[in-house]
Amino acid sequence: MSDPATTPIPVVILISGRGSNLHAIIEAVEQDGLPIEIRAVISNRPAAGGLQVAAEAGIATDVIDHTEFTGRAAFDHALQARIDACQPELVILAGFMRILTEDFVTHYRGRMLNIHPSLLPEFPGLNTHQRALDAGCRVHGASVHFVTADMDGGPVFLQARVAVRADDTAEQLASRVLEQEHQLYPQAIRLFAEGRLSLGDNDDVLLDASVLEQPLQLTARADTPCS
Ligand code: GAR
Repeated sequence: MSDPATTPIPVVILISGRGSNLHAIIEAVEQDGLPIEIRAVISNRPAAGGLQVAAEAGIATDVIDHTEFTGRAAFDHALQARIDACQPELVILAGFMRILTEDFVTHYRGRMLNIHPSLLPEFPGLNTHQRALDAGCRVHGASVHFVTADMDGGPVFLQARVAVRADDTAEQLASRVLEQEHQLYPQAIRLFAEGRLSLGDNDDVLLDASVLEQPLQLTARADTPCS
């Protein structure tokens, strides 16, 4: 019988931009044996740099340009059909900057993850780094969560914390948070791919079949992930 911890699960990754998280995920597959098979990378923006990142790794890419659709529902239908043709067990949002319809999110309940550059529930939405600086936060970071109908509001299960420096600019802070994101997302995806993580009926996150009371914190690269 195959071992669920090492048998790759099929995934689809959705992007809108440069694709640095996508790149980190591809590296984790190639170098650290992250057990996923990336069946497709789909962008809603034709110019997304991440399409090139995927193509260079030999991964199938597709563009479903949201500007060619009359509304959110029509776009989400087309996207869902394209994703489902790949039969993924997990859909990974990696800088996918679209608000999704409730139907779409419900369809992928418990099998869609997102990464967000803040310590959720702080600072959902855009410009998180500047908002953290404006609010005088001393600690900022990034979160990975299951996607629900609340934008950036689904249950968080893994976070990375980043100290804010007195003289930080939003760009400097963003770059340190992004470095953490690149470790955080592969670790989060591994938990799911190894069958250790699920979403319970009342939006509890279950880790190894027990309710997770607090988000896990990123463990440094050399440590055993999240044990
Ligand atoms: C990342 O910082 C990611 O956390 C953020 O977009 C960036 C994408 O960068 N996502 C969100 O803000 C989602 N609400 P990338 O294209 O280089 O991975």
